[in-house]
Amino acid sequence: MAGSIDVSLWRGKEDGRYQTFAVPQRDNQTVLDVVTWVQRHADPTLSYRFACRVGMCGSCAMTVNGRPRWTCRTHVSRVVEDGRLEIGPLANLPVIKDLACDMVAFFDKWQRAKGVFAPSKTRREPIEKISPSTPQRVAADAAVECINCGVCYSACDTVRWNEDYLGPAALNRAWTLVNDQRDAGNVKRLAAVAADGGCHACHTHQSCQQHCPKALNPTASIAGLKRRTMQAYIRGEL
Ligand code: SF4
Ligand code: SF4
Ligand code: FES
Repeated sequence: MAGSIDVSLWRGKEDGRYQTFAVPQRDNQTVLDVVTWVQRHADPTLSYRFACRVGMCGSCAMTVNGRPRWTCRTHVSRVVEDGRLEIGPLANLPVIKDLACDMVAFFDKWQRAKGVFAPSKTRREPIEKISPSTPQRVAADAAVECINCGVCYSACDTVRWNEDYLGPAALNRAWTLVNDQRDAGNVKRLAAVAADGGCHACHTHQSCQQHCPKALNPTASIAGLKRRTMQAYIRGEL
């Protein structure tokens, strides 16, 4: 017969506190399963966010025993310490309630970094063929699988110190578009990411890379942006 885990969950807003529940232990249980058990069996007022449960939507990220993680793909057996789990909201974002953060600032920064495709062709023109082996496509492919989970943003010390900083996810997205040969928005995009709070504020700590659940490397993307913005500056394009 399986035992139970002591699960401390953050309750309330920034000035809240942890509340502990005894949750039955199960084989192959994920951290999201544990949170869901509490909401269904102990306290239906618990607020948290999830959608796909399979590592695609990016909505279930929380702080688990001090580290940001996607909870639907994190098995309890990998992270439990002395039979305990402490689960809180992501750091560096305002808390709405319990485990749910306000992601508005995170997504506003994607807009500020011009993380939106700017088409160079109209729908009446033929679809452009891009070879998967071009250096630009290879660079974009290496960064494109981001699921917008906010784990890197929560792990980044520069975001913590400088609320103006665009953060690893928005800059990583900008890098994929800088390398998209179909996109026509690079003049504005490079100016946006070179401005205050942009790529040059990154201190290359690599926390984003260490924590990204998709094994992406935003640090490398930001290094690419630093190079590209410097080249644009030297050419007088910025
Ligand atoms: S490498 Fe840059 S973006 Fe990534 S965690 Fe460090 S400061 Fe933040
Ligand atoms: S770069 Fe990785 S950690 Fe950051 S939002 Fe995308 S998937 Fe999440
Ligand atoms: S619920 Fe969608 S990534 Fe976890």
